[in-house]
Amino acid sequence: MDPTKRPSPGPSASAGAPVLGASDFALFRELISRRSGVRVAESKQLLLQNRLGRRLQALGLPSFQAYYRYLRTAEGEARELGHFWSVVTTHETHFFREEQHFAALEQAVLPELTGAERRPRTLRLWSAGCSTGQEAYSLAMVVDGFLQRRPGYRYEVVGTDIDEHALATGRAGIYPLASRVEVPARHLVRHVDLGPQTLQIRAALRQHVTFAWQNFAEARALRPACDVVFCRNAMMYLEREVRVHLLQVFWESLAPDGVLVVGAAESLHGLPRRFAPHRVGKTLLHRKVAEVHE
Ligand SMILES: C[S@@+](CC[C@H](N)C(=O)[O-])C[C@H]1O[C@@H](n2cnc3c(N)ncnc32)[C@H](O)[C@@H]1O
Repeated sequence: MDPTKRPSPGPSASAGAPVLGASDFALFRELISRRSGVRVAESKQLLLQNRLGRRLQALGLPSFQAYYRYLRTAEGEARELGHFWSVVTTHETHFFREEQHFAALEQAVLPELTGAERRPRTLRLWSAGCSTGQEAYSLAMVVDGFLQRRPGYRYEVVGTDIDEHALATGRAGIYPLASRVEVPARHLVRHVDLGPQTLQIRAALRQHVTFAWQNFAEARALRPACDVVFCRNAMMYLEREVRVHLLQVFWESLAPDGVLVVGAAESLHGLPRRFAPHRVGKTLLHRKVAEVHE
């Protein structure tokens, strides 16, 4: 969950709405952490009450305990868990968020991956924790533009997330029209259709991007191996144990000269050394280390 700076006040009952008490809050925190690795801060009681409250209302359930019990039934697992992850995770994202990472990809990583000594092949990029897909499409736009100068190369981008609803938005590639200002003009002209209220990513770009459900806590290495992993603004919400697991998954998923990009506010400090910092101008990327020394 997104830690906001402001500590939340304790939950308060509004117009008879169910209140998420301390013991129920603890149950949900434990469930979220155990199943997804997402750490819910102590201060998020009211936020969780509001978000889960929407699901209680949709299902017509009288209390948070009833909702908790429902989630643990086979029917709840099958029909509600998707909605649950959708409301408990934070999906903030936009096209070309932390633009410096896309500039480093274009100016340093892609030239290296396609150097004169290399044979044309398919480049593979992974947007892990892709939310509604803007990161995956931003990657595709950059690679597509770059490869116009590298005939013979192809590319694929895969976006993964725990939230099926976010993935569905990604697959459709339809976003509010206002988000056009986030896309550089050269990419907008080539890859985006503008409608009166929305914009849509053109099919020619969408065909390079696939979306798949994945829970970081249970993630397995991606095959075939990929060249670049973007996992930004997601790891910071995870329990250390899941971050360690994920780092190993990224290490196994990446080709020998593969690069990992984490959010500008994130760091791999204190985690097992699977990647070495790699500076491109003012931007820090992480290069896979050949051998792991514990
Ligand atoms: C704040 S968004 C970041 C989106 C994008 N990477 C960016 O930087 O703009 C974090 C995403 O991570 C996903 N996420 C959180 N916990 C996850 C987990 N355990 N497994 C997979 N995805 C998870 C959330 O659903 C959310 O879409």
